Amino acid sequence: MKTLVTGGAGFIGSHLCEALLERGDDVICLDNFVTGSSTNILHIMDNPRFEFVFGGVETALSIPKADRVFHLASPAGPSMIQSHPAMTELVNSEGTKRLLRDFNAKDVLFVSTVKVHGDCERVQPYISGKRSGEQACMEAGAKVARLGNVYGPGMAADDSRVVPVFIRRALSGEPLSLWNGGEQTDSFCYVSDIVRGLIAFMDSDETGVMEMGNPEATSIRELADLVISLTGSSSRIITNENVLVAEECHKVPDIRRARERLGWVPGVALKDGLSIMIESMKERKKGQHEPVSGRRGNPPDDHRHEGRGVHPPRDKKGDQTGRKARMAARFRFPPRMCQRSL
Ligand SMILES: NC(=O)c1ccc[n+]([C@@H]2O[C@H](COP(=O)([O-])OP(=O)(O)OC[C@H]3O[C@@H](n4cnc5c(N)ncnc54)[C@H](O)[C@@H]3O)[C@@H](O)[C@H]2O)c1
Repeated sequence: MKTLVTGGAGFIGSHLCEALLERGDDVICLDNFVTGSSTNILHIMDNPRFEFVFGGVETALSIPKADRVFHLASPAGPSMIQSHPAMTELVNSEGTKRLLRDFNAKDVLFVSTVKVHGDCERVQPYISGKRSGEQACMEAGAKVARLGNVYGPGMAADDSRVVPVFIRRALSGEPLSLWNGGEQTDSFCYVSDIVRGLIAFMDSDETGVMEMGNPEATSIRELADLVISLTGSSSRIITNENVLVAEECHKVPDIRRARERLGWVPGVALKDGLSIMIESMKERKKGQHEPVSGRRGNPPDDHRHEGRGVHPPRDKKGDQTGRKARMAARFRFPPRMCQRSL
């Protein structure tokens, strides 16, 4: 089975590529590195069943041939969306339509967001792009996975979403600031649960919309308290910022359909997932090579599900030159770009 993952060098996409390789798929990753990074996929570059193609979904001369496609390519964090508004809209609208022309609709899984029907002013190009992509998928009979917030190792170091921001600040002893007293709620799902859900959806005969994520709401204050306690940080909590936030921007996914049709429910408790992510961010902060289990985030044994297994050991630090050469040889982009992105 040959599987194309657009946005495969991003946070969720790189975990998905790993999981697909682990179960024996051939995987092609199409990415333009606008928000993702080569470091997310370095550890799978040596796998002979993995191929990287540099390019934008909406702009590439051609889309690599495969049996099916997971379409994740899109800036996702608010600051990245605001930096790339046109691309965000296009990759979700025109990019999705392009994939629907190249693949059978039932083999296309478009990753959308539960915020799609909200009124999230700050990320308008994102919402309208996702709406347009969803509509095209519904008309064609493809699969749409609407995700709630996802967190875990591999999120960009400067990601502006609340979980990495809180952990970063707690590890540096900086204050954690809560909007509106931190009473608003949101939901947070560990990345390996989402990857398992996406694969189960693709493997099934189901089409249409499937919402996935943590169905339990957590207040932002609870999240801040948990991060401070798990990091043992001396950070203070500040609650003096008042911001008008539309309620739909914090929508909790309705996972009833995913549970009934796919037997999917998330299994990693917030406390456990945060602990893994904190360890991973500590390692990154120290500037060391992150341990395999820490960076990619294998959850504790009692939370494991099939398909979430171990990850191949990474090269030793001194092997960077060899890596660059291998990337240049295997990636379809010029060596100069490899060197810059490394
Ligand atoms: N992380 C979440 O909490 C969350 C929640 C709901 C939905 N999603 C969706 O999941 C998908 C992945 O999100 P993520 O958090 O991993 O984001 P990410 O930014 O880490 O990954 C997105 C990847 O897509 C690539 N990309 C962006 N535009 C592209 C283009 N035009 N052509 C090719 N590649 C492109 C980026 O370089 C990056 O590698 C996105 O579609 C996002 O909307 C994420």
